[in-house]
Amino acid sequence: MASQHYHELVFLSTLLFLSISLSTQSHETLVFPVRKDPTTLNTSPAFTKRTPLVPVRLLVDIGNGFIWVICEDNYVSSSYRPARCNSTQCVLAGPTTCNTCDGTPRPNCNKNTCGLYVQNPISHVILKGDDLIDDVVLFRSIHGNFATVPHFLFSCGANILRDGLASGVDGVAGFGRTKIAIPTQLSSVFNIHPQFALCLSSSPSSNGFIFVGNGGNYKLAPGIDVSSFLMRTPLITNPVSTIAFSFPGEASSEYFIGVSSIKINGKAVKINTTLLDIDDKGVGGTKISTVTPFTTMETSIYKAVTMAFKKEAKAKKMKSVAPVEPFKTCFSSESMKSTRVGPDVPIIDLVLASEDVYWRVFGANSMVEVKEKGVVCLGLVDGGLSPRTSIVIGGHQLENNFLEFDLATSVLRFSSSLLFRQTTCANFYFGSKPLIWEYEV
Ligand SMILES: *[C@@H]1O[C@H](CO)[C@@H](O)[C@H](O)[C@H]1NC(C)=O
Ligand SMILES: *[C@@H]1O[C@H](CO)[C@@H](O)[C@H](O)[C@H]1NC(C)=O
Repeated sequence: MASQHYHELVFLSTLLFLSISLSTQSHETLVFPVRKDPTTLNTSPAFTKRTPLVPVRLLVDIGNGFIWVICEDNYVSSSYRPARCNSTQCVLAGPTTCNTCDGTPRPNCNKNTCGLYVQNPISHVILKGDDLIDDVVLFRSIHGNFATVPHFLFSCGANILRDGLASGVDGVAGFGRTKIAIPTQLSSVFNIHPQFALCLSSSPSSNGFIFVGNGGNYKLAPGIDVSSFLMRTPLITNPVSTIAFSFPGEASSEYFIGVSSIKINGKAVKINTTLLDIDDKGVGGTKISTVTPFTTMETSIYKAVTMAFKKEAKAKKMKSVAPVEPFKTCFSSESMKSTRVGPDVPIIDLVLASEDVYWRVFGANSMVEVKEKGVVCLGLVDGGLSPRTSIVIGGHQLENNFLEFDLATSVLRFSSSLLFRQTTCANFYFGSKPLIWEYEV
């Protein structure tokens, strides 16, 4: 089975879009379609317009601090500019290196240009000091208008960073908590609220979406107002960067939330709650990740949760079968009913700020079907004995959940499964019109 599914964002730009009608005074919400890559996880479109225009597909990594695009070869643009050391752009980007390169000037070989640590979140390869540059990027609003940003800041990646990305994907789209991540840059250019909403589709054949901006009136067919059922919990800052190399004192750009306990069928699982807090070295806690295919839990939490789940499963007469990698707890699909929220299995609740605020995980998100074997597995992975982050909520658990990350107020608003509301992430409406996006470019 394909154990990795990443969601991709395509930074598209096409010559067909001649009308550029979204002014920089606009308060419109911008949209990026996201497509699940069946062999890797999740990517989506954004638009890199260079001069001349080219579409670029990027891996969605919500916790990454910026966009990076492979530009060692093949990056041909007359409009790109390197960010000079100590310039306003470099200062905005935070701590940087100062690079110098004596070859023919090109992206990633410039004199006096600042650089960032660039990480591939799949291979974990990190390069120190890849150039910060700016270039023209085209964006689309939910109403179908287009707007270019003439100087969008991003970093260049060397070819070695391509390993692990799906074919046709040229970099990473970062929506993290920095001043040069997508939501913050767009918020200042378009004068929109610094927030983004994520809704990933479970199917490679229909788009999910990322929205950046004011939002507020998201509607899902049939006439469902998303804001009417969102719960809220604080977003927590991890004071220590979670990537392997970083500048001293740099906080993590990733999104952490405060899980206080885990319940299965309403019963609290006994776990070491110290692991749920972030310590002064940045270890522990719970983060949300679009580049982790399935939720991982520190070994002792993983064991306690799977044991409690098995006990409840037994009471439901679910029949255990031999496990299918990378999972350890699998059942015969014939031994469970199917419901509109997936297989009828014990319900997992991630309890948050208080007892009445919880992220409810139904079968469609907790279980992974291995169709050819007639097997359904609990879609959790053992994260090891001392992982940097105790719980990483992964892509499969995010599918068909609406999540709105408000950077101004540091609040996460979330829906739990939209299937429970008889709709999906592929069903957004604005006004009376469905949001449609042709993914192919
Ligand atoms: C950048 O600023 C730092 C400290 O202000 C200074 O030491 C360094 O020489 C400057 N670099 C350039 C290239 O101007
Ligand atoms: C709980 O986890 C913390 C952090 O890893 C550890 O220091 C402590 O010993 C654990 N407590 C128990 C009872 O295992």
